[in-house]
Amino acid sequence: MSQHDLVIVANRLPVDSRTLPDGATEWVTSPGGLVTAMESVMKGVDSGAWVGWAGSPGEAPDPFEADGMHLYPVRLEAEDVEKYYEGFSNGTLWPLYHDVIVDPEFHRTWWDSYVAVNRRFAKAAAEVASPGGTIWVHDYQLQLVPEMIRSERPDVRIGFFNHIPFPPLELFSQLPKRNQVLRGLLGADLVGFQRESDALNFTAAARKLLGYQVDQHTVTVPGIGASEPRQVLAKCFPISIDAGAITALTEDPELRERAAQLRRDLGDPKRIVLGVDRLDYTKGIRHRLKAWGELLNDDLIDPSETVLVQVATPSRERVDAYRQLRDEVELTVGRINGDFAPIGRPAISYLHRSFDRRDMTALYMAADVALVTSLRDGMNLVAKEYVASRPDLRGVLVLSEFTGAADELRAAILVNPHDIDDLKSSVLRALTMSEEEQEEAMRSLRRQVLDHDVQTWAKLFLEDLEEIGRTAKPGRPA
Ligand code: ADP
Ligand code: G6P
Repeated sequence: MSQHDLVIVANRLPVDSRTLPDGATEWVTSPGGLVTAMESVMKGVDSGAWVGWAGSPGEAPDPFEADGMHLYPVRLEAEDVEKYYEGFSNGTLWPLYHDVIVDPEFHRTWWDSYVAVNRRFAKAAAEVASPGGTIWVHDYQLQLVPEMIRSERPDVRIGFFNHIPFPPLELFSQLPKRNQVLRGLLGADLVGFQRESDALNFTAAARKLLGYQVDQHTVTVPGIGASEPRQVLAKCFPISIDAGAITALTEDPELRERAAQLRRDLGDPKRIVLGVDRLDYTKGIRHRLKAWGELLNDDLIDPSETVLVQVATPSRERVDAYRQLRDEVELTVGRINGDFAPIGRPAISYLHRSFDRRDMTALYMAADVALVTSLRDGMNLVAKEYVASRPDLRGVLVLSEFTGAADELRAAILVNPHDIDDLKSSVLRALTMSEEEQEEAMRSLRRQVLDHDVQTWAKLFLEDLEEIGRTAKPGRPA
């Protein structure tokens, strides 16, 4: 097996394997912001490795190469998918870390599976990291992995980045295995978060629950036996997108034509309002539809002039809360279309499938307003992608205050999605903004997104990690 200086470990590989009806395997881009961000980072790295799951239960494919990356698939049996992935990761941690929008479930068998699968990922990463190399672990599914790697490979630098929020102590304390999770994370040299408040929540938990000493962003982990205490840095690194690549796409005449065609396909409405989300209860899709339905009902929006395009990417479809959400969303969309759509045209164009990057960019280019209404969201890359797709300085971003992106994109129309009246008036304001106002806001948003792209994000994280590794472990190769 080859050895790599930089190893990414994430629950998912950047590509998912799908079995076609004829039994052949097809590889498609995996869903979600983590893959969007890390894929563009890894494309610029020579001989980087990515350890992750290929998305289907059962035997893992052999290691393979894609886009210059070395991919090392990790096996998940059907029972692991049920208990580790759908269970502890997405039935316990995901809702708990997102402000308990739905009730988290706690089951001891889910935890046992989480421990076992985290160990499998840690072992796979430890096997492919070169001596003194760097292992960068990602997200809530793998919080125990840093400590597990450290016990096998004390020579490597270990970074961890949490793509989702880290909850306040009052919520985190509910987690039955909270101390094990904290110790797992503190196996890293550097623990990165999206927002400053996430980093503070984490250091507060380390201090109050483990009794560890915390000095600003540094947590001191006491040594065991004769070993020295270690210092772990917990800091925020707001993630971003490959803004340059998206802006470049918008210059492609074929994409411009595709955007124009999309508008024609929708019946040439005066205004297109766009929502793009994984079909997840954290995204506030129900709140958005409620506001939209009321605007139509109050005659504040004319459905023959304005259409809502809602892309809802299939997600975690075997988890109950996601099934229920899909049913509710599709019922509501059906009702709104039944009540308000003109003949032959939708009031809401609802798309429950994945698109490639080009189609997605064409959608952003066609949209007059982008609506992001998350009830809680680590960052929300859709907001940044929309901004990157608008070098023409047109378009308005309506952005929930409860996203990490809202800390940076202050020139958006910021909204509290729980307040349906606020949501409605924000949509109306967006639809009536003058071209000059749009340009001024978009210019400021673009400056922020273009100056802080995902390459800069990765560079800052890896530079900090290297620096800490050097000071924490003198004698280790720099
Ligand atoms: P999350 O990571 O919670 O899904 P983000 O907004 O941070 O939310 O990231 C979502 C990513 O998935 C974005 O890069 C977006 O372009 C992409 N995406 C969302 N829906 C689709 C879809 N239907 N087809 C292709 N890509 C999608
Ligand atoms: C979010 C999470 C990622 C996850 C993605 C898609 O972006 O932060 O860790 O991969 O959603 O979810 P899925 O469960 O399909 O991997």
